[in-house]
Amino acid sequence: MYKILTLNNISVAGLDRLPRDSYEVASEIRHPDAILLRSHNMHQMDIPDTVKAIGRAGAGVNNIPVSNMTERGVAVFNAPGANANAVKELVVAGMLIAARNISQSWSYVQSLAGDDESIHRQVEKGKKQFVGFELPGRTMGVIGLGAIGVKVANAARSLGMKVIGYDPTITVQRAWQLESDVEQALSVDDLLSKADFVSFHVPLTDVTQHMINRDRLRLMKKGIVLLNFARDGIIDDEAVCEALDAGHVYAYVCDFPSNRMIRHPRVVALPHIGASTKEAEDNCAIMVSEQVRDYLENGNVTNSVNFPEIVLPRNGGGYRISIVNSNVPNMVGQISTDLARANLNIMDMLNKSRDEIACTLLDLDREPPAATLEQIESIDGVLSVRCLGCD
Ligand SMILES: NC(=O)c1ccc[n+]([C@@H]2O[C@H](COP(=O)([O-])OP(=O)(O)OC[C@H]3O[C@@H](n4cnc5c(N)ncnc54)[C@H](O)[C@@H]3O)[C@@H](O)[C@H]2O)c1
Repeated sequence: MYKILTLNNISVAGLDRLPRDSYEVASEIRHPDAILLRSHNMHQMDIPDTVKAIGRAGAGVNNIPVSNMTERGVAVFNAPGANANAVKELVVAGMLIAARNISQSWSYVQSLAGDDESIHRQVEKGKKQFVGFELPGRTMGVIGLGAIGVKVANAARSLGMKVIGYDPTITVQRAWQLESDVEQALSVDDLLSKADFVSFHVPLTDVTQHMINRDRLRLMKKGIVLLNFARDGIIDDEAVCEALDAGHVYAYVCDFPSNRMIRHPRVVALPHIGASTKEAEDNCAIMVSEQVRDYLENGNVTNSVNFPEIVLPRNGGGYRISIVNSNVPNMVGQISTDLARANLNIMDMLNKSRDEIACTLLDLDREPPAATLEQIESIDGVLSVRCLGCD
């Protein structure tokens, strides 16, 4: 029976992936094998020695003491991309809100007073100021073609837009997912000079901090629409507000309100709701529950922030040793010597490393004796040894 401690409410859709006949899941549990959480701050927490894995039902892991867990040989998982569709849909909404002046029109209607005949007259008189434009044929620029950026680029294509993308470190997987006619920009500046809309889907780093500043705003076409559903700080709010006032930027739609722009008539600022959908929460919980389960039952690692990706199919169950150790020379040699001493035959094996951690999976022809597991555990640098499928 595996014991799972939950530190926040985790969506039932995710917890359903942990079958009750082999998993005990509770918000108070002693000696848990794994912890599932959303935003609970674990930094001051006394994390029990029994914990082998931590699953964050979301993308960021700032609330988890990751380096401390790495030293202890505890795998930390997250759910990258689980909220990508939620953000994509809000970006599409943001494009339409900007192009059709929806927020300004709505505010106008809410300001109307009088009887129905009078409201009708005011509507017909006022609507001229909200004339918008349509999307087909316009150029959408997408900076950052990861989980979200690729979905945004493809959605813009399906709305009839031309799409130009920039991501110098795009992965092969994302490149395959991208519509084939998305044009590749040579640089951020190249993209900015061609686009009618620009949407940002990059992490906040030293390079992306204030990626949009006064100089870059000057490169853009007059009438551009900027969308920021990535991170606060990627766009210099002050510079954008100046460009909005000057009529150079048509609209700015973002998920990160600041004092400077919340009342600006050409800014639509939303309260960081990009990932706030029931489906995104379910997806995050399903992803981490499945990843933690696969790690506990098979030693496989997918979407860990501190462990190497390692997946060895479990052909027909059998006995598997899952070892986590420091990434130093001669570990596999010492481990296989111990197995040979016990006359154990290795049927299949995989070893992967990432930074200071290495994981080894060994499928054996028979159950290893407890003494052999203890010998392996005593090797200098071995952080954890588990026999999966053993009694
Ligand atoms: N508004 C919200 O609620 C919300 C929700 C989820 C994610 N986000 C944010 O959206 C952003 C993207 O998320 P994701 O899941 O697509 O991440 P991701 O890691 O899948 O993709 C990020 C992409 O940005 C690229 N990149 C990095 N630096 C770059 C640079 N200087 N120029 C161009 N490309 C660069 C990377 O190569 C990668 O492909 C993140 O900042 C994330 O925090 C916001």
